[in-house]
Amino acid sequence: MEKEKYYITTPIYYPSANFHIGHCYTTIIADAIARYKRLKGYDVFFQTGTDEHGQKIEKKAEDAGVSPIEYVNPIIDNAKDLWKSLNISYDYFIRTTDEKHVKAVQKIFEQLLKAGDIYLGSYQGNYCVSCEAYFPKSQLGEGDTCPDCGKPTKLISEECYFLNLKKYQKRLLEFIENHPDFIQPSTRRNEVISFIKGGLEDLCVSRTSFNWGISVPSNPKHVIYVWIDALSNYLTALGFMQEDDSLYQKYWVNNDHIYQIVGKDILRFHAIYWPIMLMALNVPINYKLYVHGWILNRDGKMSKSKGNIVYPMDIVNN
Ligand code: ME8
Ligand code: MG
Repeated sequence: MEKEKYYITTPIYYPSANFHIGHCYTTIIADAIARYKRLKGYDVFFQTGTDEHGQKIEKKAEDAGVSPIEYVNPIIDNAKDLWKSLNISYDYFIRTTDEKHVKAVQKIFEQLLKAGDIYLGSYQGNYCVSCEAYFPKSQLGEGDTCPDCGKPTKLISEECYFLNLKKYQKRLLEFIENHPDFIQPSTRRNEVISFIKGGLEDLCVSRTSFNWGISVPSNPKHVIYVWIDALSNYLTALGFMQEDDSLYQKYWVNNDHIYQIVGKDILRFHAIYWPIMLMALNVPINYKLYVHGWILNRDGKMSKSKGNIVYPMDIVNN
């Protein structure tokens, strides 16, 4: 008899010189599950990797006087060393800069464009030039100032591609209601349901203000939004939209043992954008989303920006 198959995924990490024990938390949980399933004799494919594109990385590389790829390469090597020290038993490490991934994401984007699920429009919003980010009206300070740096924002509009979320809103809600175990625990599921009921806006899925990303083949001044790029990894790691997609056939199609482990900060991406992408691609939503909380330290969530992080190697070496 064929062995039961499991596909276990972690989020792919932003390259950072400051990986802390919060980051390790997701990966260690996924590793424990993968090891347990292997011990039970199941056939396991355990993925992890890195999410390397975007304006922030481009900026950091520029500040360091190197190209983005030169900037990320040593960080990825360190990340792999860290996972080795923690004995993380991943089967596949995907980098979003891998050529196979880049090409597959371009195909995914073009397919969605052709199907009309991605369309060209224009985005208007309050933009902070110094933070290089849009902020919703509700977050702006007095006189439409930037909530991060306090400088005035400008109302600007730029051409961008949108993913049609509205079209899938009803189907997604029905799917979540009919699959009570899709998002666990139920507190997170309820959060997603009420967010969807509040109404979805189409999502801007391309940028023209920087270059470090995967370009849209039919309109290369646009780079594909990092989250579309990053979420696709769960399929591209299996060879989806590539010459040899046998792992995709094996571990995704007709397999409902797909466990995606994520922290609650990235719930919306995995519970709304990702299943809508799959619907639009006609790929079955076979995964279960397991959402964990945060490792806290003084001042709340452990994060680099708060300066309250604990380095995993300090614990390992103690
Ligand atoms: O979000 N406690 O990457 P990331 C617990 N690239 N978990 C924590 C944590 C904390 N203090 N801090 C971070 C990204 N994490 C995207 C993912 S996936 C298609 C793209 C967890 O490097 C966080 O919840 O910011 C997430 O699960 C993981 O670390 C990676 O975070
Ligand atoms: Mg984060």
